[in-house]
Amino acid sequence: MTNEPPNQPPFAQTEHADGQPQGAVLTFHVVTLFPEEIDQYCRTSIIGRGIKAGKLKVKTYSPRDFALDKYRKVDDTPYGGGAGMVLKPEPMFACVESILRPPDSPVILTTPQGRVFNQSLAVKLTQQTDITFLCGHYEGFDERIRSLATMEVSLGDYVLTGGELPALTMIDAIGRLIPGVLGKTVSLANESFNDGLLEGPQYTKPAEFRDMVVPAVLRSGDHQAVDRWRRERALEETFHNRPDLLEKAPLTKSDKEFLAKLKKQL
Ligand code: ADE
Repeated sequence: MTNEPPNQPPFAQTEHADGQPQGAVLTFHVVTLFPEEIDQYCRTSIIGRGIKAGKLKVKTYSPRDFALDKYRKVDDTPYGGGAGMVLKPEPMFACVESILRPPDSPVILTTPQGRVFNQSLAVKLTQQTDITFLCGHYEGFDERIRSLATMEVSLGDYVLTGGELPALTMIDAIGRLIPGVLGKTVSLANESFNDGLLEGPQYTKPAEFRDMVVPAVLRSGDHQAVDRWRRERALEETFHNRPDLLEKAPLTKSDKEFLAKLKKQL
């Protein structure tokens, strides 16, 4: 099995004079029957801060605006019979074709059949200037709509009622990686998945609270010991909760020795 390189946001190399890393604006285009759900979240969240700071743009498009009949119909009964209504191809195609975006930019269809979204895909997508999401619909969509997408992505092994939450989740996970969205002081280096492991525990003052004491090593001032302690807690957390991640994580000899000890204790 190959090790993927640690996830590094690609914008991290260059800096403005104010010390802020430089990055292009990332525009998310969202095709949805419920644009107000997307707008509402993006206005009120940290993503909204990224929009105000000029680092992100979120644009919504409704296929209903491209429905030609007088009822602005976007769905119809399925061929062959069956319950429920299926999203029609014509308004969806017209809507996607109206979007001003680079022709080779990714178009992501949210569906439980897609590849599962993860941090590594979020990091890769920060390299784009434009990302388009096509939100699926709980009763299904005409198969020809699939051909509009360059990629199908799922949030996980469960079925949601629509693609709005998956699109927002991905916008949030990708958007927060863009420099300037989280603010100056935030470090992405030690968070979960960055080095292929889950993040270990963190503490702040007071040193003791309701008989729960902050580990002495964190107050020792010994930076090497603190780094080792953090690494071991991350390994422990991953070993117990997500052992599958350890198969891909880049591990040192001492990491492997520590994991061998954990296995023996089982
Ligand atoms: N639409 C419905 N369920 C979904 C899932 N798990 N991931 C992405 N899109 C979906």
